[in-house]
Amino acid sequence: MPITAFNSHADGLEPSLRSREHFITNLDLDDDRLWVPYAEGIWFQPCSFNVTSGGFSVVLKGLPGSMVGTHYHVGTVHGYTMRGHWRYLEHDWIAKPGTYIYEPAGEAHTLVITDDSPEPMMTLFVVGGGLIYLDKPSNGNFAAYEDGFTLLELTRQHYRDVSLDPKKLDALIR
Ligand SMILES: [Fe+2]
Repeated sequence: MPITAFNSHADGLEPSLRSREHFITNLDLDDDRLWVPYAEGIWFQPCSFNVTSGGFSVVLKGLPGSMVGTHYHVGTVHGYTMRGHWRYLEHDWIAKPGTYIYEPAGEAHTLVITDDSPEPMMTLFVVGGGLIYLDKPSNGNFAAYEDGFTLLELTRQHYRDVSLDPKKLDALIR
């Protein structure tokens, strides 16, 4: 769940343990334990936690008919659809496998996996900064907040819950 109360965030690493080097990570889209529950019918696997910009990269998975509530992006978003069909309620296109999208900062949208999607949606999202969930689709007020720090904490908690080693996530922090 995104957060609604704020304190200073840190990545939890000793400065001497924080890497600035390049890294690779291998996701396993078929391993149910690696999918972090996010919303009803929505999960993600992390690729990176950008605690420098507040952004993050994830593969998002969603069942047909599920949705990610209306939210506003303070930074850019790149998305590449790998499986399934999805759309934003605010736009008239439908993303399918192979569809790349670019969104400038300052967009509010509501992500829906279409009811007729032939399979669960999986999309790589590279998000440049935090996002603000809104309490209604138009002229919405603040409802909750998400960024690289909050997703890191959420993912660490999931790893503890399913007996995975949360220290493995440290390699994804930059
Ligand atoms: Fe978004």
